[in-house]
Amino acid sequence: MKIVYHERSKVFHLWNDSISYVMMALPNGQLGQLYFGKKIHDREDLSDLLELAVRPMASCPFPGDRSFSLEHVKQELPGFGTGDYRSPAVEILQQNGSRISDFQYQSHRVEAGKPKLAGLPATYVEQKEEASTLVVNVKDSVTGIRAELFYTIFAEGGILARSICYHNEGAQSVQLTRAMSLCLDLPDCDYEWLQLSGAWARERHVKTRRLTMGIQSIGSLRGNSSHQHNPFLVLKRPSATENQGEVMGFSFIYSGNFLMQAEVDAHDNTRVLAGIHPDTFSWILEPGDSFQTPEAVMVYTDQGLNAMSQTFHGLYQKRLARGSWRDKARPILINNWEATYFNFTEDKLVQIAEKGKECGVELFVLDDGWFGERSSDHAGLGDWVANPGRLPQGIAGIAERIDNLGMKFGLWFEPEMINEDSDLYRAHPDWVLAAPQRAKSHGRHQYVLDFSRVEVVDCIYGMMAKILREAKVSYIKWDMNRSITECYSAALPPDRQGEVYHRYILGVYDLYERLTQEFPGVLFESCASGGGRFDPGMLYYAPQGWVSDDTDAVERMKIQYGTSMCYPLSSMGSHVSVAPNHQVFRKTPLHTRANVAYFGTFGYELDLNCLTEEEIEEVKGQIAFMKKYRSILQFGMFYRLKSPFEGNEMAWMAVSNDRKTAIVGWYRVLNVVNDRFTRLRLAGLDPDLCYRNSLSGTLCYGDELMNLGLCTTDSTAGEVTAGQEPCTDFESRVYVLEAD
Ligand code: DGJ
Repeated sequence: MKIVYHERSKVFHLWNDSISYVMMALPNGQLGQLYFGKKIHDREDLSDLLELAVRPMASCPFPGDRSFSLEHVKQELPGFGTGDYRSPAVEILQQNGSRISDFQYQSHRVEAGKPKLAGLPATYVEQKEEASTLVVNVKDSVTGIRAELFYTIFAEGGILARSICYHNEGAQSVQLTRAMSLCLDLPDCDYEWLQLSGAWARERHVKTRRLTMGIQSIGSLRGNSSHQHNPFLVLKRPSATENQGEVMGFSFIYSGNFLMQAEVDAHDNTRVLAGIHPDTFSWILEPGDSFQTPEAVMVYTDQGLNAMSQTFHGLYQKRLARGSWRDKARPILINNWEATYFNFTEDKLVQIAEKGKECGVELFVLDDGWFGERSSDHAGLGDWVANPGRLPQGIAGIAERIDNLGMKFGLWFEPEMINEDSDLYRAHPDWVLAAPQRAKSHGRHQYVLDFSRVEVVDCIYGMMAKILREAKVSYIKWDMNRSITECYSAALPPDRQGEVYHRYILGVYDLYERLTQEFPGVLFESCASGGGRFDPGMLYYAPQGWVSDDTDAVERMKIQYGTSMCYPLSSMGSHVSVAPNHQVFRKTPLHTRANVAYFGTFGYELDLNCLTEEEIEEVKGQIAFMKKYRSILQFGMFYRLKSPFEGNEMAWMAVSNDRKTAIVGWYRVLNVVNDRFTRLRLAGLDPDLCYRNSLSGTLCYGDELMNLGLCTTDSTAGEVTAGQEPCTDFESRVYVLEAD
């Protein structure tokens, strides 16, 4: 990995074995983008990559020169108002009403490693040799705003992490009204756009479309990154597949309102922008103040979508997630939510835990309903004290009983929320986000606490920390069940109301940081009505997240498949739940529910006491299987093989790091009669190793399995063969391939 500045040509070149990123100080002083893609040779003068052309009607800064126009130049920090008519990356409102800015190159420095982003989640290094960071200072001389542009290139993989820090070195305060984290101008638009979108219980479905002239975007204005759109975007060449071809992934490490867009201009240039959504953002910068944007990560590969995902998985697993659980196989848990909802007693919970223990479950999680007057979703949020009617000895008491079973104990919180029917609300009605003279909209009968206020965060921290200090709690599920409305803070002046959404998220990060620092042994799982805030920002604090409230195996295939585009399996909370399923009322076989849930953190979301003896034996087998293979499933190399969005079958696999063991999941939604012979071409195996198939007992070389494929033909389809279980709908198999 290297970062070079060629003084004479004013060209910066950052490269490692996979990628090059080239930019230069333009003739007008602004920073221009020249290249991002596969590694190219360095040259003294790469400035000839700058394409200039005389284009009729362009606005030009240099008298007499019609070739240089910001309208047509690729840039790093395009501002508004000086000839570039595309969406800007930055906009500053001056006191005189002007929104124009013009950031010119001043200086730069190169740092070994990667600096921290104060108060924000970001990728990190453990050794300085893992990455190198270029910091370029550009300044708008009229306002005195200096922008530090951070570019971190990692030694391994096609990864570039970017963020910007604005400093007001002028004499007057200004308002930042747009502060995107990333701008990338690409020289063509021959891309397919891929996004992860959906809704509650249908999160992160893969949606693709051809990039076309104009602006296409995804984003959130909800206060959380949202079920609707994940802060992740792919631009891939139309011919690129899972295993080959040029792919660029863009991921935004943030949990609040965001915007990711691609703008194709009239000459087929593509501008990619990623950052805090400007529609709901403004920030006052007094002289001497600074504003740090969240980080955006770009990944380039010419090896297809799987390689892009594996790059993100490696980075996010090892250098975004933190803490003692980062590298550990995750405990198999049982959660009481779908087993009891609000209807439980302490004894009932212990019975569920006991049955779990008998089956091999390691962690019992007490979900919603244990605190305050919480007997339904109308009351109690904000009162983080155990309800004595339900838990006579408090959390410490039930945690002790679970501990005595030889299991760990986990607890649900929804720290950011409050019910009107709560002691906290009665004491502090102004702690809720609410606009003067306007009604407050509720979501699930609850309101959002004003986490932009430090006293609110302090109070919630106090209640949570007390429980964690007094009771043996090993795991926290941090839920968040509604988006923000009437976003207004009683604690901020009118001209700072544009800061509330961002300050809210900073408050959430602050609480997470305090708790993870004080309780480093606790495993945090983030959640937001399922996957409403499943984003890289959360991963920094909570190494796993509840993927979706939809626990149906067929629905989960799509949700987990889409999620895997960016996020590692170790981050995906996935459980076996009851059939008929509580969301879609579908009856899927128990083995299929487990076969889907294995590709994640694994657990149960049901009352095991309600299963038959035969099913309990099956569950015991599932847990033993997961314990044996979870380190490969969660930390091996993951490959998507067949998309559930394209047909009746889905397949994926995880390969151990020594490539001696592979676990292949194959799933078929509806049964097919008299089907053709089917084979599944595998990936990531050692071509020269011979693998034994756990289901058929056959031995095949890796090259055969990857080129000809694993035989998945179903010999029973269409005929009930004596002694053999006939296949049904929602059939699945997990093949373990072990090198002989
Ligand atoms: C939404 C979560 O996603 C569920 O798993 C459960 O914890 C409920 N909230 C509890 O209210």
